[in-house]
Formats: sequence, C-alpha cells, structure tokens
Amino acid sequence: MNQDELKKQVALKAVEYVEDDAILGVGTGSTVNHFIDALAPIAHKIKGAVSSSEESTKRLKAIGIDIYDLNEVDLLDVYVDGADEITEHMAMIKGGGAALTREKIVAAVAKQFVCIADQTKRVDVLGKFPLPVEVIPMARSYVARELVKLGGDPVYREGVVTDNGNVILDVHNLTILDPKQLESQINAIVGVVTNGLFAHRGADTLLLASENGTQKFG
Ligand code: A5P
Repeated sequence: MNQDELKKQVALKAVEYVEDDAILGVGTGSTVNHFIDALAPIAHKIKGAVSSSEESTKRLKAIGIDIYDLNEVDLLDVYVDGADEITEHMAMIKGGGAALTREKIVAAVAKQFVCIADQTKRVDVLGKFPLPVEVIPMARSYVARELVKLGGDPVYREGVVTDNGNVILDVHNLTILDPKQLESQINAIVGVVTNGLFAHRGADTLLLASENGTQKFG
C-alpha cells in the first residue's frame, strides 16, 4: 500500500467518530481531504462543520455540508485532522499545509481531537519535519533572528500567504525534547501568530494506518 492509500484507510476509520446531527471540526491536508470524501454518503446526517481552511471549506460545501462560523458554536464534539509528526505522548507538529493557526483555534474548542495519520508520521522526537511558524509579515526578519537564538534554522516559505494574510517560517534542524516549553517560547516572540507545535493541546486519540490495518491509541 502506498502512503496515499494508507491516508485513505485511516480517513475512512475516522468516520466512526462522527455522530448524527454533529457539528464537526475539520482540519486541513491530504488525509483530511480523504476524510471529507468519506463523509459524502452521510453528509445529510451531519448538522454542519467548522472548517480550518478555505480549502477544506470548499470541499465540505461541495458535498453539501453547512459551514458554521466558530463564533456561533460553544463546543465541538470532535475535531478531525492530520499531522506532520506525532509522538507517543500525542504531541504533534502541524502546519505543513500552512493552516496551523485556524487548526489550533478549532482544536481548542473541541472535546476530542482525533488525529488521523499514516505510520510515516509517528516519531520518537519531534523536529525532523521543519516546524512551521505563522508570522505577521512586518515581523518576519525579527522573528527569524529570534528563532535562530532558539537553535533553529528558519526558512521563509516563499510564495505562501496564509488564510489570515500572514507568512510562514519553517524552522529546520530542531530536536524538540520538550514540546510544551518550545511551543510557549516561540509563541512568546512578538510578531508570532502561532507555531505548529500542538503539545499543550495535543491529540486525544490517534488513528494510525499501516499495512496491517489502523491502530487506535489514546
Ligand atoms: C495542515 O496545515 C497540516 O497541519 C496538516 O494537518 C498536516 O500537514 C498533514 O497533512 P497531510 O494530511 O497532507 O499529510
């Protein structure tokens, strides 16, 4: 099975977490795109969704799911999203698709975060995948210098503007031994909107796809 087939397999499994009349939180990325496809047959049973990106919104609308503004919703039962890396402690790096800020906001409002991933995303230590940091454009160089002080090598993701009108710095060469501490430290840099470490609010459940099937953790 190739990686895309594994993504599809795990996305299908996540549909079991969708209850009738639910308002879902929906993440962003190629694994989530498979999840949205898998929702199509039951779309009529779903009340609606809060989406983490323009891309997911477009796909959800295309299968007939109503989109809610997060300000209209107090609590989401479940948030389903992928990850770029995830540890056994359910800490993640996210933001490969540049949607990290909205993803973090929607995840914060969900009772349960279900991470859907293929086995290549499971790591012992976070940091091989460059850590995305969303930055207010005028602060880009300043934030990059501060990230160097923290031991990383930030690279400007050229040509990418987030749904919030900001830019992304991808921080290479980090070995993240304390994800919660680094998440807080980076978020404290003036000009940072947020960073792609999801450690304070990690996943509650991990569905991990491999050749042998999908395993559930948490
Ligand atoms: C989007 O900004 C990311 O957080 C995605 O969840 C992450 O990059 C996983 O993407 P894939 O499902 O495409 O691998």
